[in-house]
Amino acid sequence: VDPDVLAKLRAIVGERHVLVDPDLTAGYSVDWTGRFRGSASAVVRPASTAEVAAIVRICAAGRSPLVVQGGNTGLVGGSVPMAGEIVVHLGRLDHLEPVDTVAAQVTVGAGVRLALLHEHARLAGLAFGVDLGARDSCTIGGMIATNAGGINVVRHGMMRQQVMGIEAVLGDGSVVSHLSGLPKDNTGYDLAGLLTGSEGTLGVITRARLRLVPRYDERVTAVLGFADVKAAVGASGHLRRRLADLDALELMLAPGIALVLGTDYASAPDALRAPAVLLVEVAAHLDPTDAFASVVERLDLAAVPLVAIGSEQRARLWAIREGHTEAIGRLGPPIKLDVSVPIAEIARFVAALPAVVPDGAGLVVFGHLGDGNLHVNVTGVLRSVANEGGGPPPVLPPDATVESIEHDVLTLVVAHGGSISAEHGIGIAKVRHLTMCRSAEEIAAFRAIKRALDPHLILNPSVLVAGT
Ligand code: FAD
Ligand code: MLT
Ligand code: ZN
Repeated sequence: VDPDVLAKLRAIVGERHVLVDPDLTAGYSVDWTGRFRGSASAVVRPASTAEVAAIVRICAAGRSPLVVQGGNTGLVGGSVPMAGEIVVHLGRLDHLEPVDTVAAQVTVGAGVRLALLHEHARLAGLAFGVDLGARDSCTIGGMIATNAGGINVVRHGMMRQQVMGIEAVLGDGSVVSHLSGLPKDNTGYDLAGLLTGSEGTLGVITRARLRLVPRYDERVTAVLGFADVKAAVGASGHLRRRLADLDALELMLAPGIALVLGTDYASAPDALRAPAVLLVEVAAHLDPTDAFASVVERLDLAAVPLVAIGSEQRARLWAIREGHTEAIGRLGPPIKLDVSVPIAEIARFVAALPAVVPDGAGLVVFGHLGDGNLHVNVTGVLRSVANEGGGPPPVLPPDATVESIEHDVLTLVVAHGGSISAEHGIGIAKVRHLTMCRSAEEIAAFRAIKRALDPHLILNPSVLVAGT
């Protein structure tokens, strides 16, 4: 970085919040999966909206591109400085304002970690409607920027449905702030809606006003085993129709569960060893066990249901579902394809997948069945950039490149009426595939919006609308 720019950044945030030593910036330069490694020219850690605005103004004046980073748990490489950008890390914007229990809303800093927001809302007798496995690390700013989904979308929707207002710094350093949280407020363009899902390309989110939801203390968590995906999908329709308090409806398949459980798989209860498994959670103010039992007894199950008794057993069932990402990661970075498929097409799509994955590669599929969202992981193809020794080289057909594998899986998604990204975003991982589901006219509109809000094209230049 230009020494003059560095000096100005130090003057804003203080010497110890500008990192340039490669040993210190290394952790900010690689993604969670180890697939994407860049090199931050500097890492800057502001503590307020005013500091973020001052940083962006300096970067804009010097035409120095920057990458916005929260918890760095994103799964499409969007927070990685691939071209030596300055990383602006939002972790110090971690202020939680008191919960407004009358409106059931709260205003929080972009750097607040999800688990802390959950605890904050819980203590006020409420809850936050989005939850996901990276809850201890991911931040509210990153979740808004990616429009994160997770395990409760079937009940509460994605981040977009929780965001009532946003404060953000645009690409020229100007601050837009609209945090009143009024449920009715038709006064022009919905900037909060535009910034949600913009993946750091339009503005740096610094604060947000969020909707909270009722806190349900009575839960039933159960694993249901089915003969195949078609039977699980059929049952999921029944569960959705009959259970008003359905909180989560997650799909796991035998290869994924076997990978998570390892040698314990052989002795696991029958429900967990069925070919297709649903993890179902119902949450209510009054005990929903009887309502759940009467719905489940009508299902055509392949094994006796496994119902968690107490919070410890519940946590164990969720650990199997949430353990998929790490278990897959232990095989080396996967080609991770987070996709949406119409629910009616899911069984046909899953059945067709093995034919488009090359011999020699592994395939692990799981996801949020209630939302038609599958996580397709092709393993054994990529070597870890974080760990050069990461696994043996794959033995694949000569024409099987990463791009061709991604293209073949995503072509199948589109052929089934789906979307190439459900909840993780485009990031840098899917930029080259964006035209598969967005028209030239739509992408031209994206670019016009990008140029309007980030006139010097300094915000996350490799992400989403790269090459604008
Ligand atoms: P980062 O990874 O730091 O950044 C993600 C993107 O947002 C980048 O493009 C970055 O530039 C941008 N960004 C970050 N902060 C800001 C900001 N303040 N302003 C503007 N742009 C910003 N995702 C789901 O949707 N559902 C899941 O169920 C889910 N489960 C996961 C489980 C595990 C184990 C892991 C590792 C990840 C999971 N994810 C899931 C992905 C990830 O947690 C989410 O995408 C999350 O929203 C990223 O938040 P973050 O703070 O880590 O963002
Ligand atoms: C999940 O649902 O567990 C996540 O989105 C993470 C993943 O896709 O691995
Ligand atoms: Zn997910």
